Amino acid sequence: MMIPKQTVQEVLEASKVEEVVGEFVSLSKRGVNRIGLCPFHNEKTPSFTVSPAKNIFKCFGCGESGSSVDFLMKHEHFNFPQAVKWLADKYNIHIEEEEQTPEQIAAENEREGLFAISKFAAEFFNKTLNETDKGRAIGLSYFNERGYSQDIITKFNLGYSPEDWDALAVAAQAAGYPIDALVQSGLVIKKDQGGVYDRFRNRVIFPIHNASGRVLGFGGRILIADKKKPKYVNSPESLIYDKSNVLFGLYSAKNQIIKKDNCYLVEGYTDVISLYQSGIENSVSSSGTSLTEGQIRLIKRYTPNITILYDGDAAGIKASFRGIDMIVRAGMNVRVILFPDGEDPDSYAKSHSASDLSIFLESSAKNFINFKSELLSKEAGNDPLKKAQVVRQIVETIALVPEQLNRIFFIRETSELLNVKEEVLTNEVAKILRKEHYKKQEKHNREQQQKAAGIGHTPSPELGDEPPEDFFNDNLSGGETKTPVKSEISSKSNELEIIRLLLNFGEIEFKPEIAKVEDLPEEKDEEENTEEEEISVIEFIIGDLLEDDISFDDEILNSIYKEYANAYENDRLLNSNYFVTHENDEIRKLAGDLLSENHILSPLWFKSHQISITPETDHAVVARACYECIYSLKVRKISELKKKLMKKMATEGLSSEAQDDIMVEYHRYDIMQNKLNQGLGRIIGGKN
Ligand code: UTP
Ligand code: MN
Repeated sequence: MMIPKQTVQEVLEASKVEEVVGEFVSLSKRGVNRIGLCPFHNEKTPSFTVSPAKNIFKCFGCGESGSSVDFLMKHEHFNFPQAVKWLADKYNIHIEEEEQTPEQIAAENEREGLFAISKFAAEFFNKTLNETDKGRAIGLSYFNERGYSQDIITKFNLGYSPEDWDALAVAAQAAGYPIDALVQSGLVIKKDQGGVYDRFRNRVIFPIHNASGRVLGFGGRILIADKKKPKYVNSPESLIYDKSNVLFGLYSAKNQIIKKDNCYLVEGYTDVISLYQSGIENSVSSSGTSLTEGQIRLIKRYTPNITILYDGDAAGIKASFRGIDMIVRAGMNVRVILFPDGEDPDSYAKSHSASDLSIFLESSAKNFINFKSELLSKEAGNDPLKKAQVVRQIVETIALVPEQLNRIFFIRETSELLNVKEEVLTNEVAKILRKEHYKKQEKHNREQQQKAAGIGHTPSPELGDEPPEDFFNDNLSGGETKTPVKSEISSKSNELEIIRLLLNFGEIEFKPEIAKVEDLPEEKDEEENTEEEEISVIEFIIGDLLEDDISFDDEILNSIYKEYANAYENDRLLNSNYFVTHENDEIRKLAGDLLSENHILSPLWFKSHQISITPETDHAVVARACYECIYSLKVRKISELKKKLMKKMATEGLSSEAQDDIMVEYHRYDIMQNKLNQGLGRIIGGKN
């Protein structure tokens, strides 16, 4: 299928992103935008934003963004033409398809050909199993011995490949499938000395389907253990079979995965099938590969929760540790069940009743903290060094959790379980994150330098200082909306961010100690009063800044700040509407810009620290953002004051008393700055 460019354009212009996305995601109105729960990552508070004005979507949480077409390609796993067709259908636009090039036809036909062959083979194996004497005597009796019901055999479309060397090759060719395509599918293997033979001869067959039920490949199990032959033979990869993006059982499990909001991840074909037969219908396994990120993403389409069911042997434990980290890194929730040594889900399901199995699964799933600590603590015994190693191993996994709020909860749990202070754990996590952050930044810098080397320009953004300018570059803005302060971002960024917070989240309320308790343990003691009342972002920020008598460098930003401050001192809180309808052109424009998604999409601080801020973000996160902005501003202000003092110090004819005064004052600033930096470091570290 080849769609003329003109039609593609027409379709794209007709599509309204909010209508397209709205068919898959429940969106609610938020100002000029719509927001909802992101379908591409797991979240509880919506950060998925759709902008009708720009005709794009963007998730603050995971960064996914793009047009209606991008959405369909990502969400529905369409290719580009499929997405365009879907849209054309929705908007009643007729597509006149262009002639395809011969290569395109060939490629498309090749894929379709492989699908057709796989389907034929699956039917052939299944028929052989059920309807031939040998199939029934050998294959079916094997499955029956393993306790598989006819229903389950039908459900999974199990089969048997006869002992003859080329039964499938012959049948498929008779049905019109060319031998080259059969070889390409991996079902048939060419012999060096000429001729072909069936890959799966004399094996029972487990067909592997994609999520929409098309057969992609096969696993074939030997009937009688033979040391010289592999227990399982699997289809090789092909145009249609990409092992790292396929899960055995997904097709039959997906509805239950959604319903149960959990997916059991097991090791083998027979585990999936036996569990299914015992009423656990939401399990999948990878086939012939160890778990991949692609497979985790597949599961994520249906649920954010995975329970790993692995063998309790050393290999199973190792695989489960790896799986935990991969799943956690994907922002999903992982639990683990290790089966008693020598048992796997298949054998357990056989030797226990369905209700016992279900109770076992319910009661023995552990989150990764309990799982790791139990397992590792056993090994560590009372050796203090080994005990520290246990903590470290858990902390390493916590550091992979992308959401800061979740990290905080895991830290709390670990702290209680292993009796280690939360602060210590927080610091350890922050250390790992900072290291990662620098590593990433260094890599980025290296790449930039390599790129720039060609044109003789070597930008070298400072590490850990202000985020580089390009944090403000919004690749979605298409250059239409100018960022008003772009060229001076480093000096104005804090001020701008504070105003942005005030405008966007001014009325959100939080208890000031939320942020302090989590991030600034040293202030805990001062905060004896836990009954503290909620205050709004405006009250918090303006109150704090007024206390330190701070003013903004930037004229417009300062006038906005002053208006907030004046109103605050008269017990009035201004809302953003006041500024977007302001009589001053510049203020009105800036407020509009800061409120528009262009700026929400590219918030300097939050983006650089991978925190997404939306109006419905957890209030504690907003609180943390307030602290961060204010701290940064103050650190910078103090730097300026220090510079001024240095200049003063350099003036001639200064009395020694005056010099002493300056020194004392300078030292005072140093201490303040250190304190602020510590708090800031903890916030930034904890956020990355
Ligand atoms: P297992 O050896 O645990 O097999 O391998 P199983 O699934 O429990 O099978 P039964 O119960 O003994 O019949 C787990 C998975 O590893 C892959 C298969 O996908 C298998 O399901 N595997 C195993 C292979 O690809 N090749 C092999 O030779 C062995
Ligand atoms: Mn087994």
